[in-house]
Amino acid sequence: MIELAASILSADFSRLGEQVHAAGEGGGSVVHVDIMDGHFVPNLTIGPPVVKSLRKVTKLPLDCHLMIENADEFIPAFADAGADWISVHQEACPHLNRTLHLIKSHNCLAGVVINPATPVDTLSEVLDIVDYVLVMSVNPGFGGQKFIPAALHKMRRLAEIRSQRRLAYRIEVDGGISLDTVADVVRAGAEILVAGNAVFGSGDPRKNAEALLKAATEALLLKV
Ligand code: DX5
Ligand code: ZN
Repeated sequence: MIELAASILSADFSRLGEQVHAAGEGGGSVVHVDIMDGHFVPNLTIGPPVVKSLRKVTKLPLDCHLMIENADEFIPAFADAGADWISVHQEACPHLNRTLHLIKSHNCLAGVVINPATPVDTLSEVLDIVDYVLVMSVNPGFGGQKFIPAALHKMRRLAEIRSQRRLAYRIEVDGGISLDTVADVVRAGAEILVAGNAVFGSGDPRKNAEALLKAATEALLLKV
């Protein structure tokens, strides 16, 4: 099943509740929250208080994508604020196994993320403990960037490994997802599609979400 995770990074923060609601009306079933620390990535965004506020305006799962150093220090606060899913970067976590178990100990789904330059092979020792793998299809830090096509073979590889090893993680993709790229990622095996600019950049988030999901579903039907 394909799910759309609307990334609030491109939303109008002065009416965040309304925008999240609109994406949900259009079929968005997850709210993707980008947490940036100005160290691991060259941008700053939000912390646990905003997650706590989001928790009050939506029942949809809050998918917190941590682009931060020292994730272990902040995971409890995000979980307490109402995060349902928490993902951490392979590149930012020297004790990745411990960090993923920490997420699970807070009753959140645990995800691992890889940057465009990081090979899928670096995840071999954690694939059996994660609930999802997030493949970055842009270099993290900003919304509205161009999709990097090399991400496609990583999603195919992750789907292949999952069936070979009989694992159950889901495959998520983040960055540059639009009507132009959605069919390719779905055919490559992506099941959770993060989209910021394509949902909130211009026009009506409800209609934008609907159009993306329609294109994704059609591409899946045509998948051989
Ligand atoms: C980028 C973030 C993304 C971002 C995607 O660092 O992780 O979630 O919001 O934005 P778009 O969909 O505009 O590429
Ligand atoms: Zn993200």
